[in-house]
Amino acid sequence: MDVFVSLCKRRGFVFQSSEIYGGLGGFWDYGPLGVELKNNIKQDWWRAMVQERDDIVGLETSIVMNPAVWEASGHVDTFADPLVDCKSCKRRFRADDLAAGDRAADSPHGQGQAVDVSGVRCPECGGELTEARMFNLMFKTYIGPVEDDASVAYLRPETAQGMFVNFDNVVTSMRRKLPFGIAQIGRSFRNEITPGNFIFRDLEFEQMEMEFFVVPGTDEEWHDRWIQARLDWWLGLGVRKEMLKLREHDKEELSHYSKRTVDIDYDFPFAGFAEVEGIANRTDFDLKAHSERSGRELKYFDEASGEHIVPYVIEPAMGVDRCFLTVLIDAYAEEEVKGEKRVLLRLNRKLAPIKVAVLPLSRNEKLVPTARKVWDLLRPHFMTQYDDAQSIGRRYRRQDEIGTPLCVTVDFDTLDDDAVTIRDRDSMEQSRVPVSGLVEALRDKLEGG
Ligand code: GAP
Repeated sequence: MDVFVSLCKRRGFVFQSSEIYGGLGGFWDYGPLGVELKNNIKQDWWRAMVQERDDIVGLETSIVMNPAVWEASGHVDTFADPLVDCKSCKRRFRADDLAAGDRAADSPHGQGQAVDVSGVRCPECGGELTEARMFNLMFKTYIGPVEDDASVAYLRPETAQGMFVNFDNVVTSMRRKLPFGIAQIGRSFRNEITPGNFIFRDLEFEQMEMEFFVVPGTDEEWHDRWIQARLDWWLGLGVRKEMLKLREHDKEELSHYSKRTVDIDYDFPFAGFAEVEGIANRTDFDLKAHSERSGRELKYFDEASGEHIVPYVIEPAMGVDRCFLTVLIDAYAEEEVKGEKRVLLRLNRKLAPIKVAVLPLSRNEKLVPTARKVWDLLRPHFMTQYDDAQSIGRRYRRQDEIGTPLCVTVDFDTLDDDAVTIRDRDSMEQSRVPVSGLVEALRDKLEGG
């Protein structure tokens, strides 16, 4: 992990938040390559969940909502974890993490239930632990100039509630019929007791969630369909099949709203198999809770039967940051080429932050302007990078290390034949193509590869 985390920083994927002030645990900044990778992940999810489907629409809701939302959803009462402190070394732990042992990196939030830690000692120093006390994970803030109970608000801990409270608005404005879904990508905040494992568990992160509203009675079938569809999406990102597995939640582990939840787990080097996405059957819990609390009926009128029904909800929910970590770890490879170590990211081409690098063979005064012209030609079509510093071999290695699928080399022959060499990241094979057909050739390779 250390080598990998250092690559992420050195190559501009992820930086510690406010690093010059010593950082802030659980908060991260995404560098120039990180932001590209993140955007590509989000775009691919949006394409699969909204663009390519005829039954799902998108939404973007505010981070701070009326606090009644979180009372109705159950978050004010139950979105809490049991916290213990070591009386000797003063370290702080989640009591359920200590009880979970191997799955500690992946403990789901504790549903507001206390955990008995009598007889358990501090895992760091063996010291005595305090009794567990409950700690709500929602970040509190205040609206307006007076910080009193009446002005309390929360930063959302999930994007889902924005979709539930807008159910009626979407049905009416978009004339939706069941089954249909609402998808959203946005920031969520959780005051995690034990953030860590790089960007695996953060206090500020991005979620991609979709609430799929179905006729009660068809929910179990839709749930199975969505589990398969979501697993296929992960495989479509190029994540190795053997590194993913489905995991059914035990009854005690289920969230307060869930009838059944299946996680997609990835085999992380620091934690073993841990959740990257959860697919829950949330039943009619949320719509009913918001109807009761708000006094606004959140029902669907079924013209066929003439009945008003409260739909059940299937929810695939995942984190962008955790997906980012998964695809990078999965793509990371080291191999030996001609006696030298080659580090590369075998990122799926659709995810690679830079698609094409333009490299003149050297900084020769004739080659550089020609290479820059080639770069000008490519920039409107692909995310590109231009690099003329150091030997061509080192520049290939640099591009391998950031996962660039294709390099275009401009050499002295280019000045005569107006052709360039395309070099493939994975096979390292090279092919010669005329500059006039370069955009087409690159597109073929990116889409076909
Ligand atoms: N609306 C349901 C929900 O939020 P969750 O299992 O708590 O369910 C869904 O979160 C996904 O969000 C997780 O699978 C994970 O990928 C991501 N996630 C949750 N907490 C996170 C955290 N503290 N840091 C990074 N990602 C997180």
